[in-house]
Amino acid sequence: RYNETRDVMAIAPVIPVVVVPDAASGVEIARALVAGGIGVIEVTLRTEAGLAAIEAIANEVDGICVGAGTVWTAAQAARAIDAGAEFMVSPGIADEVNGVAQTRDVAYLPGAQTVSEIAHLRRQGVDATKLFPASVVGGPAAIKAFLSVFPDLVFCPTGGIKEDTANDYLALDCVPCVGGSWLVSADAVNAGDWEAVRAAAERAAAL
Ligand code: 3PG
Repeated sequence: RYNETRDVMAIAPVIPVVVVPDAASGVEIARALVAGGIGVIEVTLRTEAGLAAIEAIANEVDGICVGAGTVWTAAQAARAIDAGAEFMVSPGIADEVNGVAQTRDVAYLPGAQTVSEIAHLRRQGVDATKLFPASVVGGPAAIKAFLSVFPDLVFCPTGGIKEDTANDYLALDCVPCVGGSWLVSADAVNAGDWEAVRAAAERAAAL
């Protein structure tokens, strides 16, 4: 388990954000990501299968750090950690999730969109935030502007980032990684095209 968010952010240049239809697909996706050189995966709790997929990946796939995404409540956070989640992500501020993360000593990446939200997180001791939705909030220029008032923060911009725009963010010192769903497209998952996932991961690992 990871207790430092920055350690999770250092695993790969991209944290793949994944929506799984079932646990078995989650395992295949995780294996394809590892084969492509990406050792981290954020499985969102947006589908019923999310928790089961986290558990299956934690138990069956070597070489990957599995986390839970779209975590909004303390109950979800506790279930995700019990299932084997090594880190948690929220799209925005979710104070109760942060509470569970601190109590259970699990890495946590909360989302923020504004200066006031970042300030709220800073007061809670958070030093890494998911900027979401990054492309809408202003892209790399917004991060540079935030940095002038939060010089010690690191960002995982997510939302609207693709293979061809990721480097615009990764060029910033305060951006160790970005988040994105592009590596694991719904089409690839529906078709069971794990080779497409592996190939996308290989390109992402080289960013
Ligand atoms: C998330 O929850 O982080 C987003 O769904 C990822 O955004 P993207 O689909 O635009 O990459």
